[in-house]
Amino acid sequence: MRSLLFVPGDSQKKLQKGLESGADALILDLEDSVSLDAKPQARALTREFLNEAGKLARRPRLIVRVNALSTGLTEADLDAVMPGAPDAIMLPKAEGGPDLTHLAAQIAVREAESDFADGATRIIAIATETGKGIFALGSYAGASHRLAGLTWGAEDLSADVGAETNRLESGDYTDPYRMARSLTLFAAAAAQVDAIDSVFTAFRDSEGLRAECLAGRRDGFTGKMAIHPAQVAVINEVFSPSPEALASAEAIIALFDANPGLGVIGLDGEMLDRPHLMRARRLKARADRLG
Ligand code: COA
Ligand code: MG
Repeated sequence: MRSLLFVPGDSQKKLQKGLESGADALILDLEDSVSLDAKPQARALTREFLNEAGKLARRPRLIVRVNALSTGLTEADLDAVMPGAPDAIMLPKAEGGPDLTHLAAQIAVREAESDFADGATRIIAIATETGKGIFALGSYAGASHRLAGLTWGAEDLSADVGAETNRLESGDYTDPYRMARSLTLFAAAAAQVDAIDSVFTAFRDSEGLRAECLAGRRDGFTGKMAIHPAQVAVINEVFSPSPEALASAEAIIALFDANPGLGVIGLDGEMLDRPHLMRARRLKARADRLG
């Protein structure tokens, strides 16, 4: 998944627009973009949307962001949306492996009630929204086979730590958020799941978005969350392996295939060894998945 577009779960209009956005996934939101009063209505509308959109032959992945476990709202969210067979549940304010196994158990019960295959519903965790969450980043590895990706958030984290801002005037993140971003990459690698980059909230600034996408791709993120349909095309473009990158990866793989006894090979004046081969294989696998 390159682009994951947030759509407030209480907006019929945005849900429809989301379908036409070209996003690889929609994150149907029951959490922060929906007021407390509107939660029941958002649950009902989201469920209806899952039923309808789920029938389409070509559709984005459908992910539901439920409310955090600490709110006491999560189970009612799951009761409403699980019969609509979402592809994944996004857990905000996640604080490590124990939260993951807790949510996985709640999902498993509802899969059984709806007669869905056990494990059909994946989980994506937003793993850096609290200080406590930061210290738990190492505990996702091995906690649940449902985990499909880890992502990070700077807005709630700055509220949790009491920061005045999370970006410098240049637009770059301040140190605490750069660290949260880096730790998310390591946590995702440890858990062997996708690292998904956080949102870029200035939705009219497409050059700023592109720069952040390029930096994300460079560092190992495989996709990025969006908050506005106008962001989808840029994200899809940057996170699609380019023909040149694919050709280079294929050349490296072919070279190692042709020389099975060699651990290190020279190509165009560069030393290539195992990490280069692994990187090439990952890029090729990603390109194959995108078709
Ligand atoms: N998903 C689907 N459609 C969206 C959308 C989204 N995330 N954001 C905007 N649109 C639609 C608008 O409804 C509008 O439709 P229209 O042309 O039929 O009127 C069109 O795209 C253009 O929107 P625009 O006028 O540029 O923006 P806006 O002022 O209506 O909305 C936001 C701005 C930020 C409120 C809106 O983008 C939004 O709701 N984003 C998601 C917020 C969210 O989920 N946050 C939680 C995660 S951080
Ligand atoms: Mg939030």
